[in-house]
Amino acid sequence: MEYAINTETEFARDVLEGLTATNKHLSSKYFYDQRGDVLFQKIMKLPEYYLTQKEFSILDQYKDAILQPFLSSGQPFNLVEMGAGDGLKTKILLRYLQDSGCNYTYYPIDISGTVLEQLKCDLKQDFPSMCITPITGTYKRALEEQKWEEGRRNLFLFLGANIGNFDRELAVNMLRRISEALNAGDYLLIGFDLKKDPEVILQAYNDPKGVTRDFNLNILSRINKELGGDFDLAKFKHWPMYDPLTGECRSYLISMETQKVTISGLDKEVYFEKAEPIHTEVSKKYNNYELGQLAEESGFVITRDFEDKEHFFTDSLWQKQ
Ligand SMILES: C[S@@+](CC[C@H](N)C(=O)[O-])C[C@H]1O[C@@H](n2cnc3c(N)ncnc32)[C@H](O)[C@@H]1O
Repeated sequence: MEYAINTETEFARDVLEGLTATNKHLSSKYFYDQRGDVLFQKIMKLPEYYLTQKEFSILDQYKDAILQPFLSSGQPFNLVEMGAGDGLKTKILLRYLQDSGCNYTYYPIDISGTVLEQLKCDLKQDFPSMCITPITGTYKRALEEQKWEEGRRNLFLFLGANIGNFDRELAVNMLRRISEALNAGDYLLIGFDLKKDPEVILQAYNDPKGVTRDFNLNILSRINKELGGDFDLAKFKHWPMYDPLTGECRSYLISMETQKVTISGLDKEVYFEKAEPIHTEVSKKYNNYELGQLAEESGFVITRDFEDKEHFFTDSLWQKQ
């Protein structure tokens, strides 16, 4: 798919800011264009990317307990999902809600319009009677606009350890925004990747087939396509690293030589030293104590943690105070 160059977008502004900073950086939310969506769907099928398999098993095993507060009330409610993607795991919950005859509207939020279109088509086919209102845009914008129905109970989903894409301070900010959008007694089901053997973690971001590499490099392809860049992808190396102290798995793209990249749509030349990194992603891991602190600082109490047998992943059900 070809894109018209538009330099007025948030993407253009963020790329300009990130590539002219002293420590170059690009936000992982820009991985997801049409190709990025497909690459992420491939990542979810990789044996090394345990996060999807673990969360799938948790939702499947505990769906009844997770959804209990909404199954029993009989009241209509909003099901709002932050970064829904293709909804692979959410469909477990949706199926259960449909089979239980619940009255709800599903509001999947995602920055990628293409993945939301795909999700909407899938759901219309699988659940023809479901009320679904997709919201294309960032988490921040969606929380500001609050397009879901007022006066209803809310269940927010933040699955896939998406919250790990924020460092701790930004995670607290985002969770406070969610808390402010909720009424006392509403729920948030949030997935966290738990701290574990560093080798297991690192492999999830560095698979031997190179799918995670291609996913990381896709951000440069997007700049080429959408902003008229001339990045030579072969001159950048995918470099993930895990720091067991902070729990952050950080991905970089390393310039393998001194080079100049022109981004014509931004009217900008960007210079790279040999071995200079662009920071592209953080995937932060937590332990149970740390996520308890996070809940408390952002105005929630933990109702229950649902974990897989190996304690690799948790879906934590939080209630707004
Ligand atoms: C890691 S994928 C997870 C998808 C899904 N939640 C799952 O668990 O399979 C992250 C999804 O969130 C979306 N996303 C990432 N950052 C976002 C942001 N700041 N605002 C809205 N959507 C975002 C991406 O487009 C992508 O579909």
